[in-house]
Amino acid sequence: MSKKVISPGGNITGVVELPGDKSISHRYAILAALAEGRSEIRNYSLAADCRSTLECLRELGIKVEVGREGVHITGAGLGGLKTPRRALDAENSGTTMRMLAGVLAGQAFSSTITGDRSLRRRPMRRVMEPLRQMGAQIRSGEGDVAPLEISGGVLQAIDYTLPVPSAQVKSAILFAGLFADAPTTVRESIATRDHTEIALREFGAVVEAVGDAKGAIRVHPRPKLQARQLLVPGDLSAAVFLIGAALILPESSLTLHNVGLNPTRARVLDFLISIGASIHVASLAMRDGELTGDVAVKHAALAGGTISGAQVAEMIDELPMLAALGPFTEKGIEIHDAQELRVKESDRIAALAEGLRQMGAKVEEFADGLRVEGRSAGKLHGAKVDPHGDHRIAMAVAVAALGAEGETVIRDADCVAVSFPDFFAALERLRGAA
Ligand code: S3P
Repeated sequence: MSKKVISPGGNITGVVELPGDKSISHRYAILAALAEGRSEIRNYSLAADCRSTLECLRELGIKVEVGREGVHITGAGLGGLKTPRRALDAENSGTTMRMLAGVLAGQAFSSTITGDRSLRRRPMRRVMEPLRQMGAQIRSGEGDVAPLEISGGVLQAIDYTLPVPSAQVKSAILFAGLFADAPTTVRESIATRDHTEIALREFGAVVEAVGDAKGAIRVHPRPKLQARQLLVPGDLSAAVFLIGAALILPESSLTLHNVGLNPTRARVLDFLISIGASIHVASLAMRDGELTGDVAVKHAALAGGTISGAQVAEMIDELPMLAALGPFTEKGIEIHDAQELRVKESDRIAALAEGLRQMGAKVEEFADGLRVEGRSAGKLHGAKVDPHGDHRIAMAVAVAALGAEGETVIRDADCVAVSFPDFFAALERLRGAA
């Protein structure tokens, strides 16, 4: 486990291509495995989480080739997965575990899916509940955590309203719906990312909005999924850390190419613009059902503000970066209704409060969020910070460290490989480019 020393200052200047979007990569890989024929997925994320999905698919008998131009997956068709010889290991990836649970629920064989220590602590009831209603038998560790032992088969269609807004759970149900006896409906009162709906259509499934009800979608069972050639857009949730760095460091001017700008993900840019960020989007294009574009960002004075309600689900992965921007804003950053942050790769509210306080920030912690005071609370200073094995905490702290006085040491910094293996290299390259 390596530590990383961040020295402050400089500026972020240049052009950057990002790793492929993590959420979209998982979905393309799973659907390619269920399709007929050989799919080509370019710019597939080679972050650890997306590699975990590929490894699980290999265990299920799928041929996966990882090459320089992308990943090739030879699908086995809807009924073609093989009984795995050992437990599937999702490692740190909640998306892998929850989405594959939906697929495994539709298989005639039994299988077990597990993960690392962090993942074995995360709540799985939310995905077990609807899959059980569909007829799958699922055994879990005590307290509704992984490992999950799943025995499935032909499932019954359900009409399910998500109690917690979660794109992972929505996706698990939609994937299980492919193996059901009739169309399956999922309803959400707060919109979450819709990459699964888009990808299902790209591979040939029928997914439709239910009546004119907002947030209700229905998937038809037993489609014939066809292999595709797809290009994964750059990962906006990774980009946000470089955007944060450019906003903090004076004289920065950064352009990010081919970033995924799906409206269910891009709210973070609207929020940043609303608090004064200089961000411009250009070259908008629609590809494989996903909106992409170039994002140009320049250093700017930030006012700060509050995030709550539906905004939370729309920016869930960006909240650590936004909280870490707090000390660089006029009024600070306040986050509410974000209790989900407590059950991510770490308890992100506690980890952020601890790390930012160690750097001298004034932080108030709430059960469902936190408040990070603005500039008037004083300048941050370097500190030794433990990201608690959480990639997004490590990157958020690293960005705050750029604007601190003195060096910051981040423990176990290689956890960034979970979503953005090249993060520190990209940051250094952009800082050196000026
Ligand atoms: C994801 C959904 C979100 C998000 C995670 C990726 C996805 O999780 O935090 O990083 O790809 O569907 P939840 O579904 O738990 O909100």
